[in-house]
Amino acid sequence: MRLIFAEDYEDMSCEAAKIVSGQIYLKPQSVLGLATGSTPVGLYDRLVQLYQTVGLDFSGVTTFNLDEYVGMSSENPESYHYFMKKHLFSRVNLRPDHCFVPNGMAEDLEEEGRRYDAMIEAAGGIDLQVLGIGRNAHIGFNEPDIKFEAMTHEVRLDDETIRANARFFAREEDVPRYAISMGIRNIMLARRVLLLASGPEKAEAVYAAACGSVSPKAPASILQLHRDATIIVDAAAAARLPEAWKEKRFYNF
Ligand code: GLP
Repeated sequence: MRLIFAEDYEDMSCEAAKIVSGQIYLKPQSVLGLATGSTPVGLYDRLVQLYQTVGLDFSGVTTFNLDEYVGMSSENPESYHYFMKKHLFSRVNLRPDHCFVPNGMAEDLEEEGRRYDAMIEAAGGIDLQVLGIGRNAHIGFNEPDIKFEAMTHEVRLDDETIRANARFFAREEDVPRYAISMGIRNIMLARRVLLLASGPEKAEAVYAAACGSVSPKAPASILQLHRDATIIVDAAAAARLPEAWKEKRFYNF
């Protein structure tokens, strides 16, 4: 695992954009795994800037998002699909037919999970998976006590996640209780993983991900076993990490 200690949210987003754009330059046909939430918005803004200023070319790129709320169509402004259109898909030259999000409206969610996994496989697998992290160390919507071997499947959201995500809805009662999410196994199968964390409310989760024992109680801790995982943390999110790790900008273990 590799850690990059960024100063703040801006710095974290810049470092992340370097890694994602580097991936696209090296392999124009890259398959990216993408995340929603407030954390990657700065990354997406910088990718849009690189598209506009230096012509970062997304025309060969395929994207697979991690998750979607059950019962939400892509036209619903609270859906993750809509979020992605707004923050990235509509702002760069990604081909619309190369951008995939699990279908939260599918009648048979088990079948939808299998279909999504098969599409990822047919695309050649994910080259670089971008992740945020929940306050309870969830990744995607893989909540504590998830089975590490799970592929894309329906999940029930934790109360803590529902409270945290209520800020995107008019009322807490409006937050869907179920989602469809790539599983931990999908994430572990990605060739590279890039987790972003910003702000003091993520410090405990980052500690569990990087320093805690590998356990389904802290789903992000599995990344310690990934062959190529990078965590970019800002100073607030790094608060609980060992001071010795922070002496340089990069730390590998
Ligand atoms: C949601 C998403 C996760 C995301 C998390 C953190 O639960 N399913 O993929 O990492 O929120 O969101 P934020 O970045 O807004 O803190």
